Amino acid sequence: MIDPFGRRVTYLRVSVTDRCDLRCVYCMGEDMHFLPKADILSLEELERLCGAFVRAGVRKIRLTGGEPLVRRGIMSLVDNLGGLVKSGDLDELTLTTNATQLAKYADGLAQAGVKRINISLDSLDPERFQAITRWGKLDQVIEGIMAAKAAGLAVKINTVALKDGNEDEHDHLVDWCGSHGFDLTFIETMPMGEIHADRTEQYLPLSLVRSRLESRWTLTDIDYRTGGPATYVRVEETGRRIGFITPLTHNFCESCNRVRVTCTGTLYMCLGQNDAADLRAPLRASESDHLLEAAIAEAITRKPKGHDFIIDRNAHPAVSRHMSVTGG
Ligand code: GTP
Ligand code: 5AD
Ligand code: SF4
Repeated sequence: MIDPFGRRVTYLRVSVTDRCDLRCVYCMGEDMHFLPKADILSLEELERLCGAFVRAGVRKIRLTGGEPLVRRGIMSLVDNLGGLVKSGDLDELTLTTNATQLAKYADGLAQAGVKRINISLDSLDPERFQAITRWGKLDQVIEGIMAAKAAGLAVKINTVALKDGNEDEHDHLVDWCGSHGFDLTFIETMPMGEIHADRTEQYLPLSLVRSRLESRWTLTDIDYRTGGPATYVRVEETGRRIGFITPLTHNFCESCNRVRVTCTGTLYMCLGQNDAADLRAPLRASESDHLLEAAIAEAITRKPKGHDFIIDRNAHPAVSRHMSVTGG
């Protein structure tokens, strides 16, 4: 699959549910409404969708949410997609999770063929963690993270950089991740969906985060790539990597290799645009995958050049849907 700008699409992000057991302040309002269950694709349908993308050239699948591990029966999908890794049809199957359920699932994920996992963690302070997630328990998340480590999964921590929210903890996070052998990625907050808060109050440019880190740590640019949007440095003192995901300060759309599909079978060709293609109708219209494959091929011809995110007090969110609908 090659889009009109010559970019090869090899990375599929699949949001298996829009539901989440947390309510991070930059992600959702407290009164978030979730999709009716009747609209959601079955796990078998999601697997069929993934199969069609793999036949079209996808080599990496990331399950996201909402929170992917709150979807009932999720391990059957993970096991079956893990089979595609074992057969060589897929290079990587992975997840982005908030880790609340990870203590229960880490071993099963490793057995299914997951090697690497990204975990959202914005604070190491229990009270602050609770405030950011509205009711999350840090202990439970740390237990999940340590279960992933014990299961042999490579852990990368995702931290959304928040002005006045966690900026005084960035050094501690680098230190903590270093001591546990985890990579760490900082993310600029993106204006997606109404969160009943002023994003300008939350936004922290990663150029500033990086320069602050450099007063304590020796950061060396490296050309390590995962196929995701982060650019990486090595922290010489810890030997671990820090990634920077900078949609606002340094647009990376030129090298975009990914699309995302929601749990209702809507394909978004760009995280930061509204244009979408419905894959549920062609999926359900026939037992053969021809219509589905044609719908995917047509959608790729419409992949836009890039996002329109801006952080501005007077601007509406660039896209009205929440991050939890597409999982980033
Ligand atoms: P790796 O495979 O480890 O590189 O993971 P990843 O960065 O692709 O995935 P993850 O789910 O950990 O996403 C980290 C952050 O990157 C999230 O905030 C996503 O919303 C964001 N992200 C992922 N893809 C895109 C993209 O295409 N555009 C933008 N603007 N952000 C993205
Ligand atoms: N901007 C940036 N990152 C976000 N995430 C959720 N909402 C946003 C947002 N508005 C992050 C989560 C998770 C990843 C999938 O996306 O913290 O780590
Ligand atoms: Fe849930 Fe992730 Fe959104 Fe937090 S960022 S509310 S953990 S989906």
